[in-house]
Amino acid sequence: MSRLKISRSGLRKVAMQEIRPSVTQRDIICAEIAAPPTAIVVFGASGDLTRRKLLVGLIELFKRGLLNERFYLLGCGRKKLTSKQLRQIAQQAIQENSTDTSAKAIAPFINSLYYVSGDYNDASFYENIKIKLAELGKKHKVDGAVVFYLAVPPFLYGTIVKHLGSAGLSCPDEPDSRQRVRLVLEKPFGFSLQSAVELNNKIHRCFDESQIYRIDHYLGKETVQNILMFRFANTIFEPVWNRNYIDGVQITIAETIGVEHRASYYDKAGALRDIFQNHMLQMLALVAMEPPISFEADHVRDEKVKLLRSIRPFKLGELDDVIVRGQYGPGSINGREVVGYREEPGINPESRTETFIAAKLLIDNWRWKGVPFYLRTGKRLARKNTEIAITFKQVPHSMFISAGLGDMPSNVLVLRIQPQEGISLSFQAKQPGSKACMSTLNMNFSYKSVFGVEMPEAYQRLLLDCVVGDQTLFTREDDVEVAWRLLTPVLETWQKDDAAPYEYPAGSYSFGQADSLIESDGRKWRKLGGA
Ligand code: BG6
Repeated sequence: MSRLKISRSGLRKVAMQEIRPSVTQRDIICAEIAAPPTAIVVFGASGDLTRRKLLVGLIELFKRGLLNERFYLLGCGRKKLTSKQLRQIAQQAIQENSTDTSAKAIAPFINSLYYVSGDYNDASFYENIKIKLAELGKKHKVDGAVVFYLAVPPFLYGTIVKHLGSAGLSCPDEPDSRQRVRLVLEKPFGFSLQSAVELNNKIHRCFDESQIYRIDHYLGKETVQNILMFRFANTIFEPVWNRNYIDGVQITIAETIGVEHRASYYDKAGALRDIFQNHMLQMLALVAMEPPISFEADHVRDEKVKLLRSIRPFKLGELDDVIVRGQYGPGSINGREVVGYREEPGINPESRTETFIAAKLLIDNWRWKGVPFYLRTGKRLARKNTEIAITFKQVPHSMFISAGLGDMPSNVLVLRIQPQEGISLSFQAKQPGSKACMSTLNMNFSYKSVFGVEMPEAYQRLLLDCVVGDQTLFTREDDVEVAWRLLTPVLETWQKDDAAPYEYPAGSYSFGQADSLIESDGRKWRKLGGA
């Protein structure tokens, strides 16, 4: 499929007046909106996120012609680096992670990178940034449009935002400039309901909600975005997408990796805060929400929040029946011995932090009343697998009962988020030969074989959307708070009780208590990686 590059005004022009025969309606829909002249200021520019995701995402946009020529990036951080050193770091990161890294292809981008160091608590740092922005703005002809990207540990968010406000860099009182100044925050956004509300309040003193882009990188994944297209651009699924036809839904995020080099963050967070509160609930919201009025940011976000609000609160006295936590012990993954969570470098040997969650959620609304949503996520599991599986009810009556086919398998629709991105639908069909011989077949769609491309990294999508000012794929204040409202009582209960998470061997598929959670309802977890 061809991809045009059209500026906002160009897009309007093409859409309204000049549809030349060579520009089809599909081209217009598939056109990317190219970024206007912009500065990106990255706090935490010497860190891992900047190196692995931001610089690599930006260079891809640059190579696709989607970053404006009038662009620059100002890296900020505590580490004393020069602009030249940031450029070297960027060059190396790009060479490791991108194709076509010839000097010609990347030089203009590399030459637009700058760095300034300072102390996040020191007001003079922000004055320096302001001076630098004025100077670079002139040089690159960028007039006031700036994205502040906080790629720093979350405890620094409040401090940096306050100083941006005091230095007059957030401009909340000038509606015209406000639209061109944006703030991007990485997850986790708060550690509980109270801390999220406090953080939202602090940020709102300096930035209006329309300027804030809270990243959940799952929303930038093509396959997650496709949930909306799949549900709302087809007629055939929506009529059966409800309690009358659906028996249950399973959402899985299984990883083979362990805690890696993030011990100090992860041991305080755990799987509920790290993945469940954000990525899992976002996927649940997209798969279960009502149809939004339009593909406008707030229409989509309104429906997500409404859905999250309808999730039945956990009964704290009966938590073990509906939400179970595990922690990986020693084991082996793909034939390689790995240590248990408590032996990982930097982890407290007595840690009670969970690395696995299995939960059953019920949604109290007309569409979903009584349909269980089973969610599970874990680190150091046997297979990497993220998917949403929708199991339909069995046929109401089998006419093949005399042939021994009383209990017919259900149709299962699987949205495969990663790897092997695609969609499959299982159904029963007659096998050639004997009269009543039937088997379960799969209709399978694979992105790779149909579109012949690797999935673009989520950060490319999200970075471009921040720069063009589209908030659809970013979580809104109320979205974050409603998710914390559901989960904070669970976290508090776990903190009070003395119980440790159940141990599961690294490399396993599940463990007894997680299995019981679903099996007590007469259902089974899907095998990781299929069926
Ligand atoms: C991050 C979590 O948000 O998502 C990590 O902090 C997790 O712990 C990662 O590994 C998973 O993302 P992906 O894109 O690899 O599924």
